[in-house]
Amino acid sequence: MRHLLEAAHLSREEIRSIFDTARAFGPKIRNDESIPLLQGKAIVNLFYENSTRTRSSFEVAIRKLGGVAMNFAASTSSAAKGETLIDTARNLEAMRPHAIVVRHASAGSPYFLTKYVSVPVINAGDGFHEHPTQGLLDALTIEEKLGTLEGKRVVILGDIAHSRVARSNIHILKKLGASVAVCAPPTLLPPKPETLGVDYAYRPEELLPDADVVMALRIQLERQNRMQIPSIREYSAFWGMNQARAALLKPGCIILHPGPINRGVELDTELADGPRSVILDQVANGVLIRMAVLAKLVVPEATAEWLKKNGGNRA
Ligand code: CP
Repeated sequence: MRHLLEAAHLSREEIRSIFDTARAFGPKIRNDESIPLLQGKAIVNLFYENSTRTRSSFEVAIRKLGGVAMNFAASTSSAAKGETLIDTARNLEAMRPHAIVVRHASAGSPYFLTKYVSVPVINAGDGFHEHPTQGLLDALTIEEKLGTLEGKRVVILGDIAHSRVARSNIHILKKLGASVAVCAPPTLLPPKPETLGVDYAYRPEELLPDADVVMALRIQLERQNRMQIPSIREYSAFWGMNQARAALLKPGCIILHPGPINRGVELDTELADGPRSVILDQVANGVLIRMAVLAKLVVPEATAEWLKKNGGNRA
């Protein structure tokens, strides 16, 4: 891997290798031991859209690997004075960082950046295209909780049409052997949902009884020109995960949400904070996945060597 731009590009082997690295880092991180693979390295966090989890967990990941995070927020930078993405990236690259993590509202912008900078680029979310590290951390969390993804049924419920999380998840979950179904009102599904390579339904009740995993997604109002549902209240009544719908689930079924949650809209508080929820495990695994991706892209040989010494299966 030279960059991480989209989950669609990742092979099953590459996904497994990232998981093995993340799992090998886990015990050290839980014991507060250092893994100084990025000592002396600087990583740019170039965020043109708001973020709580992704930006913070990349920053924590960089620090836990001994590196320095150079944080950039568009709202407090010269982007607010009209500087372009390319000029910004080239100026930051002149400061000699070792990788650039980028979130941008335009689909394809991380790929575009690779044409102008020479360091590895990691996609932290581009428009409604992809969010590959989110897909990886979600799949790792499901494997951790259910043992395997092979043969598991994952139902993704919410605004599929505008969700980069759904796209990255679909690619990764299918490669790891899960069967995926999506559910939303027709206006929040892509025009031809079957082109995603998944099953789909308009009503959650059709899919929930067979689910091993339910992933609830937020309505991405920031990516819609106009509201595509009659009202939030109606959406919540017909598509929200609530106690009545949770009663349809199998006993071991787990609930994920990438955050931020709009409580009472796509997911009720009793479920978000209840025993089926693995939402905070997703956040914890986000640090490990981002550490693994950074280490493998920035210092691949040193990472392979570290894994050999510390029990990772694959370099
Ligand atoms: N899941 C996710 O991308 O959250 P943030 O927008 O807070 O980074």
